[in-house]
Order: sequence, then C-alpha cells, then structure tokens
Amino acid sequence: MKSYELSENSEYWDNYYNNKKSILPNSDFSKFALTYIKTNSSLIDIGCGDARDSVFFAKNNIKTLGIDFSQVTITKNKKYETDILKFKKQNLMDIEKLTKSFEYAYCRFMLHAINYEIQEQIFQWMSKSISDKIFIETRITDSKIDPQKYSHYRRNFTQGEVVKSLEKHNFRIIYSQASRDFSRYKKSYIVKDLTHDPLLLRIIIQK
Ligand SMILES: C[S@@+](CC[C@H](N)C(=O)[O-])C[C@H]1O[C@@H](n2cnc3c(N)ncnc32)[C@H](O)[C@@H]1O
Repeated sequence: MKSYELSENSEYWDNYYNNKKSILPNSDFSKFALTYIKTNSSLIDIGCGDARDSVFFAKNNIKTLGIDFSQVTITKNKKYETDILKFKKQNLMDIEKLTKSFEYAYCRFMLHAINYEIQEQIFQWMSKSISDKIFIETRITDSKIDPQKYSHYRRNFTQGEVVKSLEKHNFRIIYSQASRDFSRYKKSYIVKDLTHDPLLLRIIIQK
C-alpha cells in the first residue's frame, strides 16, 4: 500500500479535479442519508470533492458546508454557492481548527482516502461538533482488489476495525452494513485502477 504523503495526495486530487469536466450526479448514499435528515438542518460534507452530494443536500433545504483540501475543487465548487451552501478549503489534519457545530456529518469515500491518524482526528472532532447523526460510506478490504495496483493512496481496513475505532470514541452505531450493491461502478468515474463494483461499508452513528 502507498504511504500517505500530504503533498503527493493533494497533487493527485488537484489533478483529478482539474481533469474532471462535469459534476457527477449525486450518489445513491446521499439519497439514503437524506431519508434520515430533517429539513432546515445543518450538515458538513467532509471531503466533499466535486460537490455532487453537497449540492443535492442544499437543494433539499439542508444548510450545507462542503470541505476538502483540494484548492482546485473548492474553487470550482464556489460557483454553486448560495445562502445555504458554502465551500471551504480545509485540510482534515487541522480539522480541530474548525469551530462550527453541525447537526449532521456526511463522509462519503473519504475514510479510505486518509490515514489512520487523520481518521482519529476527524472522529475526535465529530464527537464534540456533531449533535445528531454521522453518515459514513467507505471502501473496505476487498479480496477482489490487489492493493499493489492502486494508482493513489487508499487505506485498507475491515468493517470490524472501523467499528472498533468508532466505539473507542463512544459513538453509538445504529446501522452498519457491507455490500457490493451500494455503488455500482460507472465508466464516468474515471478511476483507472478499478473496473468493478467495490465492496462498501455504510455506517450511521446516532449522537
Ligand atoms: C474519493 S474522493 C470523495 C469525494 C466525494 N465525497 C464523493 O463521494 O464523490 C476523496 C476526497 O477526499 C479529499 N481528501 C483526501 N485527503 C484529504 C485531507 N487530508 N483533507 C481534506 N480532504 C482530503 C480529496 O480531495 C477528495 O476530494
């Protein structure tokens, strides 16, 4: 597995978003999460990428802040800003500097994109800054994929390992399910080193 180098990673994601011509449709996970979210509430989309899900939440009257460390994607996302949708460049290594609180946190395809130390900082921050629910969708260790072939940093961990980390922070898990049916692979994802439906884990935490 590649090691997590901050500059190499941010360069990878800046290039990825530079080459991306259009925003993807909102994910199936965002539709799933929405069924648990009250309207006129507040949500932080952690590692928001091209804003596909942040835009969807804001369209559903949820006050949304999207954060990501890629300056390229944050600059592009600014064009979607409204009264209830904002974007901020934020390195998750420094998330404790973010002093705002939210009812919900949404983290899609983010946990496997960061190392264990950053994950622990995010969990620590969420334990004091989120008041209602936390939604996580992440890749987990998949026997069908050879980590040597990854084109960029992806962390390998099992469902049990994530659950153990969350329990250490006293989070109450109300949903935890792994499946290959959660996000069907599409060519438009332009992820060169994967070509099949990934094994994903969905978790909901109730504060
Ligand atoms: C796989 S993408 C997921 C994007 C989006 N959530 C989605 O579902 O399409 C992972 C995102 O995490 C961001 N990211 C990775 N490491 C980060 C860090 N240390 N701080 C902030 N964002 C980071 C990347 O820039 C990228 O946008």
